[in-house]
Amino acid sequence: MGPREFYETLSSTQDRALTLAREGAPEGTRVVARRQTRGRGRLARSWESPEGGLYCSILLPRPSEHPGLLPLTVGARLASALRDVYSVPLALKWPNDLLVREPDRPPRKLSGILTDEVASPTLGRAVVAGVGVNVRLDRGSLPSPLSESVAALEEFVSPPPELEDVEALVVAAALGAAHWLSSEEGARRARDLCRELLYGVGRPVTVDGRPAGTIEALGEEGELLLATSTDRVAIWAGDVRVEEAR
Ligand code: BTN
Repeated sequence: MGPREFYETLSSTQDRALTLAREGAPEGTRVVARRQTRGRGRLARSWESPEGGLYCSILLPRPSEHPGLLPLTVGARLASALRDVYSVPLALKWPNDLLVREPDRPPRKLSGILTDEVASPTLGRAVVAGVGVNVRLDRGSLPSPLSESVAALEEFVSPPPELEDVEALVVAAALGAAHWLSSEEGARRARDLCRELLYGVGRPVTVDGRPAGTIEALGEEGELLLATSTDRVAIWAGDVRVEEAR
């Protein structure tokens, strides 16, 4: 396992890990912070990072085959670990949100994953996987629409897990995902797990605000396959929103 940098407060573990990657840090290097002042999410959004959450970025080699599966596989392995260890009912929303699914309740986000590619003098192309997990949550510190749409591990585990324990699961999920994608057999297992956990199959979605079809499946390279009234389309990027059943 690579070296670990720890901060009480940092702008973004992701930005720090990207800097370390460009400087030649080894595979498995990780940056952890107890709070972030400029946490980043996908699609140039910000990521609220109050104390009580796990904020961690890990440096991984970019798989030469099936690189598109890496973000999903990190999410799927983490969902599976959190399900096994803490009995949290989780699904994987494409491309890499972990959603808690409960009967008679809209899904709520427990974790988000951001992956950035970077050129590293030691690893060639590399990927920084940044993971935020809500562990303990002071809902009062969040803007109100957000506070209702998020979930935290403390709701499922008493006493709440230690941040170090959640970090160990996150790091194992990230390194394990990269390991799986270094072989074809591992890539098959990755696809199977991602497909098993995929959220919203059969439900209509919008992509970047436009109705785009109904989720059919996950493609071989991690693309989301949608059925339209006449066709099948593959989505490789964008803001996918699932229309919930009423
Ligand atoms: C998303 O859901 O949009 C992805 C959120 C990723 C947040 C994590 S927290 C650790 C790392 N540092 C960041 O600035 N972002 C990621």
